[in-house]
Amino acid sequence: MAAPENPFVFGEIIEEPNFVNRTSELDQLVRDLADGQKIFLLSPRRFGKSSLVALALFKLKKRHIHTVSITVSSYSSYAQFLEKFAEKVLRAAGPWDRVKDWVTRFGRSVKPDINYNMTTGDVSVSLGKGPGFDPTPIAPEVFAMPGELTKNAGLRMAICLDEFQQISEFNGGSVENAIRNQVQEQREVGYVFAGSQPSLMKEMLSANRPFHRAGPLMFLDKIPAADWKDFITRQFRNRGRTLDDKGLETLLQIADLIPYDVQRIAHELWDYAELKDKRELHASDVNSVTDSLVAGQSTYYELLWEQLSVRQRATLQALAEQGPGALYSQAVLTEFRLGPASTVQKALHSLDSRDILDRYKDAYFFLDPLFPRWIREKAS
Ligand SMILES: Nc1ncnc2c1ncn2[C@@H]1O[C@H](COP(=O)(O)OP(=O)(O)OP(=O)(O)O)[C@@H](O)[C@H]1O
Ligand SMILES: [Mg+2]
Repeated sequence: MAAPENPFVFGEIIEEPNFVNRTSELDQLVRDLADGQKIFLLSPRRFGKSSLVALALFKLKKRHIHTVSITVSSYSSYAQFLEKFAEKVLRAAGPWDRVKDWVTRFGRSVKPDINYNMTTGDVSVSLGKGPGFDPTPIAPEVFAMPGELTKNAGLRMAICLDEFQQISEFNGGSVENAIRNQVQEQREVGYVFAGSQPSLMKEMLSANRPFHRAGPLMFLDKIPAADWKDFITRQFRNRGRTLDDKGLETLLQIADLIPYDVQRIAHELWDYAELKDKRELHASDVNSVTDSLVAGQSTYYELLWEQLSVRQRATLQALAEQGPGALYSQAVLTEFRLGPASTVQKALHSLDSRDILDRYKDAYFFLDPLFPRWIREKAS
C-alpha cells in the first residue's frame, strides 16, 4: 500500500480540514467582508494571513458573494497591476453577458484593449503599452469598477489585496489616494487589505496617510500551542505513530509557534519517521530533524551573516542566546560588547527592515526561528 501523503504542508495555502484554529478570526472576517467593510489584516510573515483570507473568500463564495484575490507583489508595474485588477474583477463579476454592456461604457472613457475568449470565458485587459505609459489618470476608473459592476448587476463582491504594503512601491501616495477614494464609495464590496511587515502597514495607516482610519484593523496572533498539539498528535496517530509530550513541546519551541515553521518541522519529522519506520517519536528525533534542516540552510545563513555589520551580528548573537528581554540589560550589553542602547536600537531597526527580525507583542523575534539555532552553534 502506498504511504499516505505528508499531511503537514508549508509554503502553500492551507485548506480545510487541515486548517488549524482561527475560528473566531474566520467568522469575523467573513462577517465583515459580507457587510462590505474594509479590513486591514496585519501580521508578521508566515503567520497565516493568505490562508485565512483564502478560506474566508471560499466561504463567501458559497454564500454567492463574488470574490477576487490579488497579490500586489506579483506585478512589476502599476499598469500591470491595474490590468490584472480589472481582469479579475470582470471575471468575478461575469458571465460576459452580464458585464459586456458595462464594459463598453467603461471602454469609452478608459479606452482599454479588452479581449474576451468565448470558449474559455477568459478576459484580458490591456490599458496601454510602452515604458512611457502612465496609468495614473485612469487608475480611479479601474478602482471604481467593483462598485460599478456590483451596482449594475445587483451582486456583491469581496476583494482581497494581499501583500498590500507593496502598493506604495508603484506610485507612492497617489495609488493609496486613488484606492481609498474609490473603495469608500463601494457599499456592496468588502475589502481585505492584508500585509506582512506590520511596521510598513502601520506607517500606511498613520495620520496624514490616505488609509488612516479607513476600516478596522485585525492583528493575526500566533496559533496557540494546544491547537497545534491536537493537530500534530492526530496526524501522527492516523499513521499509527506517536510523538510524546516532550517532543511536541520541543517542536513548538524550536518553531517559535510560527505556523510556517511548525508545519515545516512536522513535515520533516513525518518523512523521517516514514524513512526509518519509527513508531514512537521523541524530542531527540525532533532535534535531529531540526539539525538537518539547519545544516541544509547553512550556506545561505553563512552568506547572510557575511553581509551583516559587526554591530548587527552582536545584536543577533545576544538575541539568539539571551532572548529579547535581555537586550535592555546592561550586563548583556557589556557581555556582547553591544555599545550604548541607542546603537542596539539602530541595529534592531536595520535588522527589522532587512526582514531578519520583526516585532511581535512588542518584542523582537527571528522571522526564521532556525537562524538563531545556527547562530548559537556557530558561536559555541
Ligand atoms: N490556520 C493554519 N493551520 C495550519 N497551518 C497554517 C495555518 N495558517 C498558516 N499555516 C502554515 O503557515 C504557512 C504560511 O501561511 P500563509 O502563507 O497563509 O501565511 P502569510 O501570513 O500569508 O505569509 P506571508 O506573509 O509570507 O505571505 C502555511 O503554508 C502553513 O504551513
Ligand atoms: Mg501571504
